[in-house]
Amino acid sequence: MPNYSLENTNLESLVSLAKRRGFIFQSSEIYGGLSSTWDYGPIGVELKRNVKEQWWKSFVTNRQDIVGIDASILMHPSVWEASGHLSSFSDPLVECKICKKRFREDLIDGNNCPECDGDLGESRQFNLMFKTFMGPLENDSAVVYLRPETAQAMFVNFDNVQTTSRKKIPFGIAQIGKSFRNEITPGNFTYRTREFEQMEMEFFCKANETRKWLEYWSNERLNWFKSLGITEKKLRLRPHGGDELAHYSSACFDIEYEFDFGWSELEGIADRGTYDLDKHTEHSGKKLSYFDQPNNEHFVPAVVESSAGVDRAILTVLADAYHEEEVNGEKRNVLKISPKIAPITVAVFPLMNKNGMPEIAKKIVEDLRSNYSSFYDTGGSIGRRYRRQDEAGTPFGITVDHDTIEDNTVTLRERDTMNQIRVDISKLSNVISDKINEL
Ligand code: GAP
Repeated sequence: MPNYSLENTNLESLVSLAKRRGFIFQSSEIYGGLSSTWDYGPIGVELKRNVKEQWWKSFVTNRQDIVGIDASILMHPSVWEASGHLSSFSDPLVECKICKKRFREDLIDGNNCPECDGDLGESRQFNLMFKTFMGPLENDSAVVYLRPETAQAMFVNFDNVQTTSRKKIPFGIAQIGKSFRNEITPGNFTYRTREFEQMEMEFFCKANETRKWLEYWSNERLNWFKSLGITEKKLRLRPHGGDELAHYSSACFDIEYEFDFGWSELEGIADRGTYDLDKHTEHSGKKLSYFDQPNNEHFVPAVVESSAGVDRAILTVLADAYHEEEVNGEKRNVLKISPKIAPITVAVFPLMNKNGMPEIAKKIVEDLRSNYSSFYDTGGSIGRRYRRQDEAGTPFGITVDHDTIEDNTVTLRERDTMNQIRVDISKLSNVISDKINEL
């Protein structure tokens, strides 16, 4: 089962680098792969952890007004009835009468099959939620859904979180977790998949303040992507037209990135009003409101949501960092990932596997490890080791050589400029820190 669409050459080069270096593998590859599902390898999982950590810091750790939760993927089926997902979380599906392939009608150009040009059948609405059964009986009363977004857990837990955290409005609830959508046309590597991770934050405020917070969070979020080192001119904020708005939202901005396959959404920031708390109050019978002590009044808070995809953020980091360069007549592939999120910060190489060089190199790795993610590599020529680390996006390389034995200095190489300087081993940590701060 090959992936649905990888028509773009640069994306193909990225997919092959991602596999070669252990960022991302096709899921179940030895069985031919499972369409649109991907596994993060040893380097990829570090990048993912770093991106999620930056997100969590920006929303939770570094603020007083937002708290986190980690909710179950399986929720009571009534949640999806109340949220509107059972009735309206669907895409228009069309099937080709000739080759029988299925497409999302709104994503294809023209009226014919994009694969074989055959006639397309009638369009019908296809619900994107994955269904399964809870317990041993496979009947209607046992149906549960894999959550299609993490947001609902923050609405249904509003009261639990507000009363236990004693947060005053405005405040937010944040969460990172897996979501599932039975997408009709997944594709473009990890851009649209059926299993993915979301980073969402629901900000509860007074109903007349949503537009202020919508603007605030849109700018904050755009700046967050810039802070990951993403090229600024390839990022933009795009307001939704009235016909694009989701059923729960009255205004929305998308943060978009200019991929090789076009400007595409990375995150949505939406004014959800009181829609969600109202609906859950109506369906559960439990009043979800806020008591404003100074004014002695109860009211239903409105919500401004920031909803980003982890996998799309990772794809953006990789696509933006990917460069093919020519160095001394040879091609160099390099990932210019910000040192803030690079999976490995420093790679240390003994020039030769003798004369005490490996021991010194290993000691440097151990010393640097407490501050920087560090990696020891002894295999192949120094040139090859540099190239491997360039492809892994490692910003700094340190080589222990003959001079090190004499004078305790090493070569420090920077990934992007390939500049090399000699640094005393005792000063390495400070020099690296200064260089990271300069970037
Ligand atoms: N709670 C609102 C919500 O889920 P959304 O626009 O449907 O809004 C938010 O999704 C984000 O989740 C998207 O901007 C995208 O980054 C990510 N996302 C959605 N569907 C995805 C998919 N099939 N594959 C990968 N990421 C996806």
